[in-house]
Amino acid sequence: MSTAIKIREINKSYGNLQALDDINLDIEKGEFFALLGPNGAGKSTLIGILGGLVHKDSGKITVLGNDIISDYRETKKSLGIVPQEITFDPYFTVRETLEIHSGYFGIKNNTDKINELLDALSLTDKAEIGPRQLSGGMKRRLLIAKALVHDPEIIVLDEPTAGNLE
Ligand SMILES: Nc1ncnc2c1ncn2[C@@H]1O[C@H](COP(=O)(O)OP(=O)(O)OP(=O)(O)O)[C@@H](O)[C@H]1O
Ligand SMILES: [Mg+2]
Repeated sequence: MSTAIKIREINKSYGNLQALDDINLDIEKGEFFALLGPNGAGKSTLIGILGGLVHKDSGKITVLGNDIISDYRETKKSLGIVPQEITFDPYFTVRETLEIHSGYFGIKNNTDKINELLDALSLTDKAEIGPRQLSGGMKRRLLIAKALVHDPEIIVLDEPTAGNLE
């Protein structure tokens, strides 16, 4: 197996609080990898760095050989990240949310993939309503669909057991 995600000497502080202290990890292709730690251990911070939402202080991460900073386009294409916090734009329907998210990856006509995801995640009958009208577990399922619209090679789930996934 070759390496999917290589994490080297990652440090991150928020003011005086050191959230990540010299993190090194190798995650191989085909591997199911679980990052376990108590609340505040820094799991979401590390996932945030991977997804480009949090700036690391030092260290290097490569995803399928691409550096997350210098090769950020390739990195974003190969990653699908399901965040811990639920956030949606309330003005768009479930289907529009997925269409807009496809657009971030330059995918224009993604109807087949979106229909496939809505079906797989049992959201077809909710496609034309707003995310506010979804139950908590359904919102989590929409977050999963969002992470998969561009067919990423690697999927990262932050707290996958939250929200009663079925
Ligand atoms: N934006 C921020 N500003 C300041 N401190 C932060 C910020 N984000 C996280 N922290 C702090 O960094 C530490 C790590 O938080 P993080 O969210 O990465 O932990 P976690 O392992 O994901 O926890 P949980 O299991 O509760 O999700 C915590 O002490 C948290 O208070
Ligand atoms: Mg977290």
